Amino acid sequence: MGENMWNSALEYLKKSRKAWWNNDYIEFLIEKVWKIKEPVSIVDFGCGIGFLGELLMPLLPAGSIYTGIDIGDKLLEEAERRFQQTGFSTRFIHADLNEYISKEKYDIAICQTVLQHIPNPIKILEKMKDSVKQNGMVVCIELSRDVDSASRYIDGLDYSRLNLLGIEQKLRRNALNTTGKDFEIGLKLPVYMEKLGLKNIDVRVNDYAQFVSPSKQEYKSEIEAFMSGNYSNRMTKEGKEGLMEYFISRGLTKEEAEHEFEGQLEISDYLYEHQEKAYIVNSKCMFISYGYNSEY
Ligand SMILES: C[S@@+](CC[C@H](N)C(=O)[O-])C[C@H]1O[C@@H](n2cnc3c(N)ncnc32)[C@H](O)[C@@H]1O
Repeated sequence: MGENMWNSALEYLKKSRKAWWNNDYIEFLIEKVWKIKEPVSIVDFGCGIGFLGELLMPLLPAGSIYTGIDIGDKLLEEAERRFQQTGFSTRFIHADLNEYISKEKYDIAICQTVLQHIPNPIKILEKMKDSVKQNGMVVCIELSRDVDSASRYIDGLDYSRLNLLGIEQKLRRNALNTTGKDFEIGLKLPVYMEKLGLKNIDVRVNDYAQFVSPSKQEYKSEIEAFMSGNYSNRMTKEGKEGLMEYFISRGLTKEEAEHEFEGQLEISDYLYEHQEKAYIVNSKCMFISYGYNSEY
């Protein structure tokens, strides 16, 4: 995905991020796990609209500085707008991570759902390591899409009858072979970090689970957040041919592609028909891998 493609993810990023973290868990990470007591300089690789900065800055010690790097100029404009009135110290850099070489050293380099979209994630991980000071920390927050897809319940929809998990797993495995993008990278990062020489590596799982219920005040934004990824537009039979071609180009047989299309269509129809009164439980189970640039 080039710059323009990522710029077009602006609305998705604005809607989806409402349902990703519990603030108390971030507080727990900062205080109890990472034990950050002094102001830090933090650089966010692939910051998008600065979502991680918004989450972290109010909880980090006062005087901390947040730098975001991204390829999407429209995303950075939105990030700058969001921080305008906050009083936090921020800076945004428009760059392609593949070309980017950090001139500065930071206390922390962090990224969230970026490495899974980049064909050479280890090269970017190495850049993150190079951008932190001696004893600095590298944090990567990434998914395993297998886990993500499996931890989803839509009340009234019989997921096990749809039987899509195996096919979707195959699609993702084939994407790794053909594009180099690894949708299971969340599970592998502690190993990659160790092989790159980071020390004291550990991994946690984000404890957030989304419960969408019509009884909740924030129902509308919650269901919007859930649907913003795969179901932001209702699927139609007219779109079948294009999607079938795409699935087959990604290594599915014609039968599997048909099965995937029909299953996704059923989910999309169900969500749009029950949009005003859906119950959904969903957890992304994001893996938070972290390590230090030497023994600490
Ligand atoms: C799924 S979004 C995650 C954004 C943000 N980290 C968040 O969690 O909201 C992936 C981000 O990586 C950025 N990105 C992807 N490839 C990039 C590259 N080669 N150089 C810089 N940024 C890139 C995109 O522009 C996008 O903002």
